Amino acid sequence: MNPTLARAVPAPSPALALFASVRAHSAHLAAPLGDADATVQSMPDASPAKWHLAHTTWFFEAMVLERFAPGYAPYSPSFSYLFNSYYETLGPRQPRPRRGMITRPSLDEIMAYRAHVDAAIERLLAAGASPEAEEMVELGCHHEQQHQELLLTDILHLFAQNPLHPAYREPAPAAVGHEAPEAAWIGFEGGIVEIGHDGAGFGYDCEGPRHRTLIEPFRLSDRLVTNAEWLAFVEAGGYRDPLLWLSEGWAQVNAEGWAHPLYWLERDGLWWSMTLNGLQPLDPAAPVAHVSYFEADAFAAWAGARLPTEAEWEHAATSLGALPPQTPDARLRPKPAEDAPGLKQMFGEVWQWTRSPFTPYPRFAKAEGAVGEYNGKFMCGQFVLRGSSLATPPGHARASYRNFFQPDKRWQFSGLRLAEDA
Ligand SMILES: [Fe+2]
Repeated sequence: MNPTLARAVPAPSPALALFASVRAHSAHLAAPLGDADATVQSMPDASPAKWHLAHTTWFFEAMVLERFAPGYAPYSPSFSYLFNSYYETLGPRQPRPRRGMITRPSLDEIMAYRAHVDAAIERLLAAGASPEAEEMVELGCHHEQQHQELLLTDILHLFAQNPLHPAYREPAPAAVGHEAPEAAWIGFEGGIVEIGHDGAGFGYDCEGPRHRTLIEPFRLSDRLVTNAEWLAFVEAGGYRDPLLWLSEGWAQVNAEGWAHPLYWLERDGLWWSMTLNGLQPLDPAAPVAHVSYFEADAFAAWAGARLPTEAEWEHAATSLGALPPQTPDARLRPKPAEDAPGLKQMFGEVWQWTRSPFTPYPRFAKAEGAVGEYNGKFMCGQFVLRGSSLATPPGHARASYRNFFQPDKRWQFSGLRLAEDA
């Protein structure tokens, strides 16, 4: 090959294919939504779908184009104010509880904004971007995948406020009569083990550094806690017994009148659940979802067990080779565990609360600049969830992944797996 020609053609961008597929998936998720669906904000914790679509686009403008594309002018000077989430270093922003006030720009205009930024990123990558720019595009893609899951959980919360219980997508026929297998304990010896991201492939800063930690001998349930088991907790008075609850959790039970998981509904003695497929009969064999840390902890106490630590969870997942799903799965409701030996449902059903607070690993250091605000500043008052859910995009989950929420939050696809000391 002529060496001059070889130098003239930029190397293919590793981030380009990821960027194209992630951006297309967001458009796919938005397809069933009208402008009103995408604009309303159902609570301060949730954001309008339109905001998710615009904020993830703003992230590429602020973190990539304005830094690495010479001469790039922002699509609109007002969009940084509207669609900055929490980056203090990138200027003032619309208060989070008032994101639903942004009735304009319309959903169509946001899709035009997305197309504009898509074209600019693709031009940048096709021309041969620096490794730093490639790395930031990759981060932007993983950031957008997080918002894809939030878009679904926030739409579910919004649609659950509607007395008509609309379906985000019409349900696929559900398997009937499938019972959950009996739960079994899997034992682990413990000792000094290594956890954390090993540097191969993408990982968020908070997943590392990989480090040693001490685990005492323990047992982990081979499957998730089911709706039937949770119903037994409800019927045994679990929500009325203060001895099962953390003090803050008990205060929340009383303040909010909690008596069952979010989205459960009792009608004429039958239990239903609001889902992305609309109101559906509660599947007793499926994993319980939409419970807070406080509820998960109380259930574990009632069951004579406890929640695993995040180190126990990760050690179990890696030592038994549990792999996240890599192919698209269009399911919008959790499904029962298969009747097979070994560790089941570690990924792809519901996130699993652990008893570990979200704190920095030993030798963790925040990145310089705005990107350092991504995770580090949230390391207070939140608990780690492990695994992934049915709403997690394919390719986004891994054993070292640390999701985190405050202990009273229950609108995510959050459930639990029991552990006990050995
Ligand atoms: Fe974000």
